[in-house]
Amino acid sequence: MKKTIIMIIVGLLVLFGLIQLIPFGHQHTNPAVVQEPNWDSPQTRELAQQACFDCHSNETVWPWYSNVAPVSWLVQRDVNDGRRRVNFSDWGRVREPDEIPEVVEEGEMPLPIFLIMHPEARLTQAEKDALVSGLQATVRRQ
Ligand code: HEC
Repeated sequence: MKKTIIMIIVGLLVLFGLIQLIPFGHQHTNPAVVQEPNWDSPQTRELAQQACFDCHSNETVWPWYSNVAPVSWLVQRDVNDGRRRVNFSDWGRVREPDEIPEVVEEGEMPLPIFLIMHPEARLTQAEKDALVSGLQATVRRQ
């Protein structure tokens, strides 16, 4: 019984070591900033930076655990997909800017999984309201 448990633990450790060798999840690039939106105020940018930039900009802060599989796979996928949909560092390529304030208002974004490790992105109701109206104003200014 004891032996079986030890074998299982060793097996899991070996597996954990092996998955670290998978290349996906290590491309932690931050390409150059192309063009930001014409922000309506510095406060809107600050709130967006706090709650959105890690997945929706080229200024991602890659935490240490983003190097450890399998978490690294989830982080890489969220940043790749997030940048593809909306990139605040490449505003000219954003296709549906009207969606941006909407998803905040509806509580869809920031992604809930992100909030576990990012308490600074848990916006108070007042911050959320300010971000929604700031994003609406920013989108109208383009
Ligand atoms: C943890 C990473 C992460 C954070 C933080 C995050 N997003 Fe997203 N966002 C994504 C991903 C991944 C998608 C693509 C999801 C999809 O297509 O289903 C996405 C999609 C979107 C979309 C496209 C519409 C949609 O629902 O697919 C908008 C708009 C958006 N995000 C806005 C924001 C805003 C605004 C913030 C900050 C308040 C934010 N996101 C924070 C990862 C993130």
